[in-house]
Amino acid sequence: MFLPTAALALLATTAGVQAVTVIPSNSFSSLSTFESFWNYLYPWGSDHNGSARMVGSSSDHSHINVASSTLSLIATPTSNPSPPTSSANPHPAIHYASGAIHAKAQITVTNTNAYTISGEFSSPTAKGTWPAFWLTAVNGWPPETDIGEWKGTTQNWYNTFNTSSVVRSDLVSWPSDLSFHALKAVLTAESNGADVRIDFYMDNVLRATQFGQGFVGKPLWLIINLQMEGSSGSPGPSGTTTYKIRNVQVTRTGS
Ligand SMILES: *[C@@H]1O[C@H](CO)[C@@H](O)[C@H](O)[C@H]1NC(C)=O
Ligand SMILES: *[C@@H]1O[C@H](CO)[C@@H](O)[C@H](O)[C@H]1NC(C)=O
Repeated sequence: MFLPTAALALLATTAGVQAVTVIPSNSFSSLSTFESFWNYLYPWGSDHNGSARMVGSSSDHSHINVASSTLSLIATPTSNPSPPTSSANPHPAIHYASGAIHAKAQITVTNTNAYTISGEFSSPTAKGTWPAFWLTAVNGWPPETDIGEWKGTTQNWYNTFNTSSVVRSDLVSWPSDLSFHALKAVLTAESNGADVRIDFYMDNVLRATQFGQGFVGKPLWLIINLQMEGSSGSPGPSGTTTYKIRNVQVTRTGS
């Protein structure tokens, strides 16, 4: 039987490949929708590798809020935090209260499931501001893949860690005017059944491709946070810093 190529492609699509929405693009449309897809803080709590302690809950939206279909993570200087140092390595002094959230759904790339993760970001780039949009291992570490990481300069870092010291970083320039720009990562299993290919886009243009060794089958957290100081330099801002995020979407394609 003869079928034109277009018809064959359509048959292949309808036969097996399905797209499942894991997080819909409207997850920041209301607090109740937000809370059905996201949890407050990091998966492990309030502290990590910078000088901000994350603060937020369903009754405290001073640092983590949604309005106009946009998530705002807001960092403010804090005095006399208790305890005064981060509970996470390398235990920096706490200088800010800020915001972090993580997706309730874990992301696991398998030989039959690929993921597309995207969003739009108004990211501060001032010295001492360290926003991120990233994937990190649920069990142990790495895997880690950073789709957005701004370290106090007008650059976004795409990073993939094979080990704590084997890391590939590709930098793209990022405007300082707080305008929104789109980031997207497409994660697909390699044919060896072990490694994951990650294609990184900015404003729908492919900017980098990286490979994560042994990432297939490893569950990942998706985290959005506004960390401060640490890798982004110090001192950080003396006033309020806001990181805005909208239209985050996660889809899984597979058979
Ligand atoms: C610190 O956290 C950022 C995300 O905010 C992550 O990209 C980076 O790998 C972490 N660095 C260390 C040394 O843990
Ligand atoms: C990580 O591992 C993948 C798969 O083996 C490899 O292609 C990639 O080059 C490695 N990354 C680095 C920075 O060595």
